[in-house]
Amino acid sequence: MHSSQPSRRAALAGLGAGAAATLLPSQDAQAQRNAIRYGVAAMKENFNEDPLYRDALVKYCDIIVPMNDLKWEALRPARGQFNYTDADRTIQFAQSNGKSVRGHTLCWYNALPNWVKSITTAREAEAELRNHIEQVVDNYRGKIPSWDVVNEAISHDTAKQGVWRNTFWQNLLGERHIEIAFATAAKADPKAQLVYNDYDLENTGERESLRRQHTLALVRRLKDKNIPIHAVGFQAHLYAERTIDPDGIARFVKDLRALDVAVLVTELDLIDWRLPAATAERDATAARHVKTFLSALSDAGPVDSIITWGITDRYSWIPEHFKRRDGLPNRPLPLDENYKPKPFMDVISKFRAGLG
Ligand code: XIL
Repeated sequence: MHSSQPSRRAALAGLGAGAAATLLPSQDAQAQRNAIRYGVAAMKENFNEDPLYRDALVKYCDIIVPMNDLKWEALRPARGQFNYTDADRTIQFAQSNGKSVRGHTLCWYNALPNWVKSITTAREAEAELRNHIEQVVDNYRGKIPSWDVVNEAISHDTAKQGVWRNTFWQNLLGERHIEIAFATAAKADPKAQLVYNDYDLENTGERESLRRQHTLALVRRLKDKNIPIHAVGFQAHLYAERTIDPDGIARFVKDLRALDVAVLVTELDLIDWRLPAATAERDATAARHVKTFLSALSDAGPVDSIITWGITDRYSWIPEHFKRRDGLPNRPLPLDENYKPKPFMDVISKFRAGLG
């Protein structure tokens, strides 16, 4: 199997797998089989300004993902220019603290620099997409063993909007842009884990079921064309008021595994805008919901890694989109605003130790 090939597993192993080492010997073998690496997407602003944030990354995680610094907007100030300075700071920090790194993301409709608008033909778009992926993946070969190659190519509501999201890349290249992206990434770093990443894949309901089906069809098509894809990333921005679909997840994961495609959790957080105000109750409900999701996923097969989109409630993207009506701050992440672990972190720690 691709995902269990020794070279790939070794490349992805990184350090920081110490969680399992504290177990009793009798628990050890089973736990090591089930242990899941834990990662955090880190924002450079918090990273630069807040030493407690850096301490928390060192203390809790095995993998660090530069949250915004590998997006086109950050890397490509002008056509023909590549600026790796911000991403490099986080990556160097990860490396010097024994953490692995994930790359997010090589092809997305969002966070594109303005100059991209000057590209108006399919030929130019293809050349620019290829060039970007070649340069960036090559620059980080050996340093970034796992990439979100394409992010959010499937439309929000496929029944109403058609399968593919209406994006810059889709408009100029059609769905071929996905194939170009994966094929180029594979060539630039044949050892990297190449991931298709998307949201709303975990809940009940026709819309999410269709999104799973279209994701599976996309993976199948790439496989049929011998274009490497190694995993699907569940972003997992979980809405507390929605219902996780364990059966839907199980079928999806089984079908993916039959195609030799692994799953990982890439952007986990808990959208608590509709939850009751009381802190302890809110945190307990949030943790239960996260556990329901992670259990459904890991029951369906091994989960490669779990990454949360941030680590502390002090800094999160959730309030930008999901503010609470009562004006109270959101509590979407595993540590509270003072870096105290919440029940959410206990859930993560159990999965990380293989006891989830
Ligand atoms: C978000 C970041 O968290 C914000 O800091 C930024 O302003 C906008 O992007 N899905 C994704 C991520 O794939 O890249 C997004 O990250 C959140 C939704």
